[in-house]
Amino acid sequence: MIVAVPHEAAPNERRVALVPETVTRLRKSGVEVRVQRGAGNAAAFPDSLYEDAGATFAQDTRGLAEASDVFVAVGRPGDDALAALRPGSVVVGFLNPLGDPAYLQRLAEARVTALAMEMIPRITRAQSMDALSSQSNIAGYKAVLLAASALPKFFPMLTTAAGTIPPAKVLVLGAGVAGLQAIATARRLGAVVSGYDVRAVVKEQVRSLGASFLEFDLGADAEAGGGYAKELTPEQQERQRAWMVEQIAANDVVITTALVPGRKAPVLISEAAVAAMKPGSVVVDLAAEAGGNCALTVPDRTITSANGVTIVGTTNLPGTMPSDASRLYSRNIYALLSPWMKDGNLAIDMNDDVAKGAVVAGDGSVLVRSGT
Ligand SMILES: NC(=O)c1ccc[n+]([C@@H]2O[C@H](COP(=O)([O-])OP(=O)(O)OC[C@H]3O[C@@H](n4cnc5c(N)ncnc54)[C@H](O)[C@@H]3O)[C@@H](O)[C@H]2O)c1
Repeated sequence: MIVAVPHEAAPNERRVALVPETVTRLRKSGVEVRVQRGAGNAAAFPDSLYEDAGATFAQDTRGLAEASDVFVAVGRPGDDALAALRPGSVVVGFLNPLGDPAYLQRLAEARVTALAMEMIPRITRAQSMDALSSQSNIAGYKAVLLAASALPKFFPMLTTAAGTIPPAKVLVLGAGVAGLQAIATARRLGAVVSGYDVRAVVKEQVRSLGASFLEFDLGADAEAGGGYAKELTPEQQERQRAWMVEQIAANDVVITTALVPGRKAPVLISEAAVAAMKPGSVVVDLAAEAGGNCALTVPDRTITSANGVTIVGTTNLPGTMPSDASRLYSRNIYALLSPWMKDGNLAIDMNDDVAKGAVVAGDGSVLVRSGT
């Protein structure tokens, strides 16, 4: 069996799906790992390290895809790979099945078995495979570093001969994996931090990190199944926005991470809220790719509002820390595939709960269950 590792198709993607450490582990299971030349360069894993780990090489994506039994990527395979993949082969990656049904249809038509990393169920047994979490963790950390470098102030309180500097106030909206890491990182840098989420269950987690939890009465909890949020009603959203303006204006930095799977991100920072912020304040919008939690966010750009607020819309923050992001992703992939590997071959157990969630196309059909 050949496990193939491509050069990522997206132009700004610096991560690589498998790092040399994982290649070594797969080789021990009797698997051939074929890497597209240069695939790991941007993540600081040169070909020589793959060679030492026992990988073989392909020059181009097409040749790689033609030979592959399991095509392991970070993002979705591009057109050249899709055209060359053999029916019956397996494709693994962040395939965005809920956000782009047309692409999912193309995977089905290519008659490949497609495993979408974002659809792995969030059950205890699958934690080691959870690439959404491993990558969100990085995004939360990096968001704070971007905020700290854009803010014209210190994060920590400083007592100096020239007087005392008060600590920065940081608000984190959305306290999932990225938000909790942002809270922890901002605390480590000495800021005064508060967090907010529609799911009341995260209150204790936020407090245990040394932050305060903002409370707003929605009238009902907004947790759907599986630990995810459900969409708020228009009335709830309007009330939440008005209350939010006051909270936002009281902070120097607002980091937003609020996502609802498969839907446009909720707007939590309206234009009015930006207008109420102090000049020099910073918004880092981790939901930029999903439409943005801030009304003024421009994906992949940093802009300054009329009243001097910096709004950072950088997407793919895990890709800006490609070495560790790839290392963690690669371990997630190994944890996903290794239970199904026997004698150097992959046999996906379709009765396994992980496969039931993650296999989104196979045998020519789209397999995403509605409501997931
Ligand atoms: N194996 C496991 O048990 C496991 C693994 C990973 C994550 N989880 C849990 O799954 C949950 C989701 O994590 P995630 O980071 O992927 O979430 P996510 O990226 O889908 O969303 C980020 C956060 O935004 C919040 N949010 C959505 N709409 C909002 C709004 N209008 N206002 C404020 N906040 C809003 C969500 O509640 C969530 O906490 C978390 O509770 C996490 O701990 C469980």
